[in-house]
Amino acid sequence: MTIAIILGTRPEIIKMAPVIRECQRRGLDYSIIHTGQHYSYQMDRIFFEQLELPQPDHNLDVGSGNHGEQTGRILADLEAVLMAERPDVVLVQGDTNTVMAGALAASKLQIKVGHVEAGLRSYDRSMPEEINRVVADHVSDYCFAPTEISKANLLKEGIAEEKIHVTGNTIVDSVYQNLEIAMRKVNILADLGLEPKGYFLVTSHRQENVDNKERLGEIIRGLGMVKSEFGLPMVFPVHPRTRKMVESFGFELDGIRAIEPLGFLEFLQLEAGARLALTDSGGVQEETCILGVPCVTLRDNTERPETLDVGANVLAGADALRMVDRAKRIMLQGNEWENPFGDGKAGKCIIEHLTAGWR
Ligand code: UD1
Ligand code: UDP
Repeated sequence: MTIAIILGTRPEIIKMAPVIRECQRRGLDYSIIHTGQHYSYQMDRIFFEQLELPQPDHNLDVGSGNHGEQTGRILADLEAVLMAERPDVVLVQGDTNTVMAGALAASKLQIKVGHVEAGLRSYDRSMPEEINRVVADHVSDYCFAPTEISKANLLKEGIAEEKIHVTGNTIVDSVYQNLEIAMRKVNILADLGLEPKGYFLVTSHRQENVDNKERLGEIIRGLGMVKSEFGLPMVFPVHPRTRKMVESFGFELDGIRAIEPLGFLEFLQLEAGARLALTDSGGVQEETCILGVPCVTLRDNTERPETLDVGANVLAGADALRMVDRAKRIMLQGNEWENPFGDGKAGKCIIEHLTAGWR
């Protein structure tokens, strides 16, 4: 059996790493196809280096662009590679344009598709990610759902039960595999002059937040208010999309420690040490939940309701007053919730299902 692992962005590299490791451990015949959706060193190469992943066998170098343009380029270029390679199965992870194009390209060539992190739903079609994940799920032969909630979402849409496997989320594997390494290899708190549990961590990059002047302005205002309310430093590794939009709208990140995007080891350590995270990232909602760090999500909905259910996360939208209120409330609660995303063996479980189904 030959497996082609398709990835293109920061979170896909981090969340596919445990699957790649499992392929290596079993000596499977696999290849890595990088679409090049992310390409800056801090959004791409650094993760291959830190997670000691093999070089991609192909890099399509598609780069940035409008949705149709980027998706179309991936679709066409990927088709050529898949026609030449003819893998038995293609694996995609998550909800980016890379994922939708990867799943479509493979399914149209009658190549089996496995979707890692299947079944997440925000039920908000204004998010490009929602469209990507719905399409990917519906053309997949294997839906690797992280939780029972995501499995139920797929069943509701008529996806056959035999296609769905609840595996846990590979982000748990990545966190468990790398937290201890991070603690040995990096010292980001000292580098930034921060005290454990003495700072807030911020990330924001969602298109519907940062490309919208009003929403981005309100988030920046809210961050300033949260900072004055608690008097703690606020560290913000800024995604390149966000940096571009902050500049083009002429906003200032006054009083906020705005830094370059970090490597995974540094970011994980910074997350684990934070008093609270404010974010619109999917991965950060999961990781803070796994690490016992309370999270305020800067969105009106989430496709990760498990984090709300266990009390690790609250929604604040892009609303400054609600950000302050939700931060106060969640910091008063304990952080003894259970991790709902599995036992850290998702990578193994996914490859087990795939190879078992093949025999
Ligand atoms: C993409 C995904 C999003 C995911 C995020 C992870 C889609 C539709 N969006 O959003 O779901 O949460 O990745 O981070 O697939 N840029 C750089 N260097 C890079 C990459 C991007 O400077 O390496 C800048 C460019 O100006 C680019 C912008 O960031 O136009 C946005 O990049 P893009 O890949 O289109 O979307 P993301 O916002 O990164
Ligand atoms: N991350 C990182 N460095 C940073 C910010 C985030 O390594 O400066 C990691 C984070 O640990 C998580 C992933 O990137 O695993 C989340 O990616 P992102 O927020 O870009 O995308 P999303 O998860 O929202 O799709």
